[in-house]
Amino acid sequence: MPKYTVVTMPGDGIGNQVLPAALRVLKAAGFDADYVHADIGWEFWRSEGNALPDRTIDLLAKHKLGLFGAITSKPKKEADAELDPKLRGKGFTYYSPIVTMRQRFDLDVCVRPCIGFPGNPLNFIRKKADGSGFEEPRVNVVVFRQNTEGLYCGVEWTNPPALVRAALESHPKFKPFQDTPGEDLAVSVRIITRRHAERICRAAFDWAKKYGYKSVTICEKPNVLRETSGMMEEVARQVAKDFPGIALWSTNIDAQTMWLTKNPEDYGVIVASNLFGDVISDAFAGLIGGLGFAASGNIGDDVAVFEPTHGSAPKYAELDPPIVNPIAMILSAAMLVDHVGEHEKSKLIWDAIGHVVAEGKVRTYDMMRIPGGPKAIAQGAASTTQLTDAIVARVEAMQSAVAR
Ligand code: NAI
Ligand code: MG
Repeated sequence: MPKYTVVTMPGDGIGNQVLPAALRVLKAAGFDADYVHADIGWEFWRSEGNALPDRTIDLLAKHKLGLFGAITSKPKKEADAELDPKLRGKGFTYYSPIVTMRQRFDLDVCVRPCIGFPGNPLNFIRKKADGSGFEEPRVNVVVFRQNTEGLYCGVEWTNPPALVRAALESHPKFKPFQDTPGEDLAVSVRIITRRHAERICRAAFDWAKKYGYKSVTICEKPNVLRETSGMMEEVARQVAKDFPGIALWSTNIDAQTMWLTKNPEDYGVIVASNLFGDVISDAFAGLIGGLGFAASGNIGDDVAVFEPTHGSAPKYAELDPPIVNPIAMILSAAMLVDHVGEHEKSKLIWDAIGHVVAEGKVRTYDMMRIPGGPKAIAQGAASTTQLTDAIVARVEAMQSAVAR
């Protein structure tokens, strides 16, 4: 019996190209797992009115570990138009399967490593202070994003119901809005609970301790969002007391985005609420190679699902051979391996990718800074398979070196 069972959800578009690539690397690394396929994505919205079928939820509940590729989602009108005619008018509403999955299993801790590989031509460079050329700061940041609350909690209205309207009107700051007609008034609620603030902050500090980061930065806006960001900040300060060796820094989301390119090497672990964490993790990912390198984990008490940050990239999904970069997906798989405690195997995969990137012989179109599309291969870009081959070969070579 294999030690682990992983639920694999390739989803839509390029999810079907990068997820099999990651499985090849896991196998090469000797990760002892069985894989169970599960349905997710647009196809199941169209045919069943549910992009995350119950059978997939059951598999995740049973096996606790998921690898997810990407899904396609479309605006409401298109979603309704593409629903099977037999299902139309029967009350089906499109919900993002990822958001549903995060909420259903309380996958409240989102981990997004933004760690540059030396030699990656997409790494951020900046002018040296003395003007004598350029330097490449070493970016090694891990963003902890609260995944289930904040502005993405889904409590929102256009034309809020009377009770909500009345509650809003009881707030002195609502005065400028009180004459706005309901249909012209949109409200999204930013909910932060102490419990989840505490969990994300503790997860960030635990990570810093485990992997030797010297600081955790809470990235919010407490001077304006006094209640919600205020609570995040207060909780971070409380949690920090349990980690005496690790400094707690505090930055505002807007300033942090500005400093991003000034001194990214100064930051270690960053923790933020949902929207701010989403923004700052994409921003840091841009410094280390962008979507082809941005991996993530959605971690709850019971279930954990790992996925690249990128979407289904439909414009490349039909290309043969596939051209997209599988590294973000492979790194997500390596995060899964680390999550279950197989640190050596996870490190092997990271190191193999590092080697292939530094060597620079096999690069997908994004790493060559050429446009994607059918001509990319003719212009010298590696295919998804070729880059995966190179990573698999390196994993195997490193393993046989260890075995000798
Ligand atoms: P996207 O991430 O799918 O693609 C944006 C662009 O980034 C692509 O056109 C491509 O140029 C580049 N890119 C993405 N992944 C790449 C890779 N592995 N290697 C090289 N280049 C890569 O985002 P887009 O185009 O905004 O959305 C497409 C669909 O994906 C939409 O339906 C959207 O709703 C969905 N989506 C799903 C996500 C998920 O499943 N987590 C996240 C983001 C978007
Ligand atoms: Mg995002």
